[in-house]
Amino acid sequence: MTSRDQILSLFRRNPGAFVSGQEISQTLNISRAAVWKQVESLRQAGFDIEAQRSRGYRLLGGPDRLLADEILHGLDVRKVGKSIICLEETDSTNARARQLGEDGVADGTVIIADRQSAGRGRLGRRWESPTGVNLYTSILLRPLIPVQQAPQLTFLSAVAVAESLSQLYQLPARVKWPNDVLVNGRKIAGLLNEMNAETEQVHFVILGVGVNLNMTGEQFPEELNYPATSVFLETGEKVDRVLFIRTFLEKLDGFYTEFIADGFVPIRRRWEALCELMNARVRIDQQQGALQGTVVGLDNDGALRLQLDDGRVERVLAGDVKPA
Ligand code: BTN
Repeated sequence: MTSRDQILSLFRRNPGAFVSGQEISQTLNISRAAVWKQVESLRQAGFDIEAQRSRGYRLLGGPDRLLADEILHGLDVRKVGKSIICLEETDSTNARARQLGEDGVADGTVIIADRQSAGRGRLGRRWESPTGVNLYTSILLRPLIPVQQAPQLTFLSAVAVAESLSQLYQLPARVKWPNDVLVNGRKIAGLLNEMNAETEQVHFVILGVGVNLNMTGEQFPEELNYPATSVFLETGEKVDRVLFIRTFLEKLDGFYTEFIADGFVPIRRRWEALCELMNARVRIDQQQGALQGTVVGLDNDGALRLQLDDGRVERVLAGDVKPA
């Protein structure tokens, strides 16, 4: 963390209060003159900081930047989020996570960006990633599982996002196969998982998670090919991103621990209970043609189980699911 970020994090831990120059200089182990320089540079970056000779400095407002220290403060996790890297801007957190994974960072490392210049969606699409409003994160996991089981991890992040949205904002969040989270039929979050593996063995899996939190209507691109929403659009209120991130990471950490101990079945059941089109008749458009049937659940490798009209159950590995 830079000195600037450390000062910001000190301010945010003492909302509305003055922090003395001496306390800052001792905590950061820098001179009082260096503190003043850092405060000036924060002001130049748009932060409104009041200075009083006898009391010190206090933060009155500024851009809503995510800081690792602030998220880590009081975070109760075993693996996921033990180490967090926050970036002001990157091309794609999934790309950063892949690089860090190759460099050997630990199981459960979380990469978060305030803005992505080349956010990636599924099927080569773009993921709209404006500054300071949403969550763009990639979680690097190193489970000891064979390659065929890696897709199971997608469902952990889908359930963690959906449960966080319903717990914090009472939103009726549902999951949609393979990796969307919806509220009132509109997409609020998308997941993009990638893997680094060799023959049979997984080296690491990257869970890419984008959640629309404070995005306004104008920030969505006009040409989106699906209906989308954000927590702000659903509730009319801006949310505390740090609180959302903490809740999400604690849930994901719990599911990951459970997954390592007990396998896929518990998370599969949770996902099925939240599934938007469970027991519904659907149509799935695939390259080889369309399939119609009733969704009856998930298979152990993450395939969707679809009961066809003749009673046979087909395993669907890819495709867009729509109500029939
Ligand atoms: C989709 O629904 O198409 C998947 C969207 C995934 C977006 C997230 S944002 C964080 C991570 N980094 C990326 O470049 N993409 C994922």
